[in-house]
Amino acid sequence: MLKNLTAQILRHTAPSRQHLTPEIALRLITPSCPLWSAPVEDSPFKDPFWAFYWPGGQATARYILDNKQVVKNRVVLDVGCGCGAGSIAAAFMEAKRVVANDIDEVAVIASLINAEFNGIKIETNTEDMIGRRCEEFEVVLIGDMFYDEEFAKVLFEWLKALTENGKTVLIGDPGRHGLTHSRREHLSLLATYQLPKETCLENHGYTETTLWRLNSV
Ligand SMILES: C[S@@+](CC[C@H](N)C(=O)[O-])C[C@H]1O[C@@H](n2cnc3c(N)ncnc32)[C@H](O)[C@@H]1O
Repeated sequence: MLKNLTAQILRHTAPSRQHLTPEIALRLITPSCPLWSAPVEDSPFKDPFWAFYWPGGQATARYILDNKQVVKNRVVLDVGCGCGAGSIAAAFMEAKRVVANDIDEVAVIASLINAEFNGIKIETNTEDMIGRRCEEFEVVLIGDMFYDEEFAKVLFEWLKALTENGKTVLIGDPGRHGLTHSRREHLSLLATYQLPKETCLENHGYTETTLWRLNSV
C-alpha cells in the first residue's frame, strides 16, 4: 500500500522550485505533468491538495527560512502539511523536532518523499489534532487552511486556545474569506510576499500572500 502510493506520487509529480521558497525542491503536479490537464476522473488521487504548494503555505515556509529563531531548537507541528514544505523549512532551520500532520495519508507520504528529496528527516502523523492540547509542541504552523468558513471557525478557536497555552501560532494566508476582519484583529502581520507568476496562474486572482502570528492574550 505504502510502496504503491509512493510509486503513484513519484509517477504523477515533477520536481519544482518555481515558488517562493526555491531552496526547497518539491515534487508537485506541475504543467509538465499529464495530470495537470487531465479530467478529474483520470486521477488516481482524490482531492490531491498535497500536490500543489498553496500561497498560504509558501508564506509560512518563506517566513521560517528568513526567521530561523522562530523554530530553532523548538518542537514544531505543521497542521495540514500538504506537500510538507512548512515542515521541511522548519527542519532546515534546526527545529528540535518537526511533525508534519495531515488527515490525508497521501499528503503525509508526499511530505516524507519531499523531506527525503531535500535530505532531511521529519516525523508524520495523520490524526486530527484540532481540539487537542498539543502539550509537546511549541510552534504550530498553518498554511492556507482558511478556505472554508465552518472549518475556519473551529480551527481559529483551537488556535486561540493554543496561544493562550503559550504556543507560537503562525498562519500563512493569501486572503481567504475564512480569515475574516474580526479574526485578523487577533493577529499581527509579520510579512507580505509577492507571489511568483507560476503561483498566481495557479491561484486565480491572488498576487500576494501574508504571514501572521496569532497574538497571545
Ligand atoms: C489547502 S491545503 C494546504 C496545504 C499546505 N499547508 C500548503 O499550504 O501548501 C489544506 C491541507 O489541510 C489538510 N487538512 C484539512 N483538514 C485537516 C485537519 N483537520 N487536520 C489536518 N489536516 C487537515 C488537507 O488534507 C490539505 O492537505
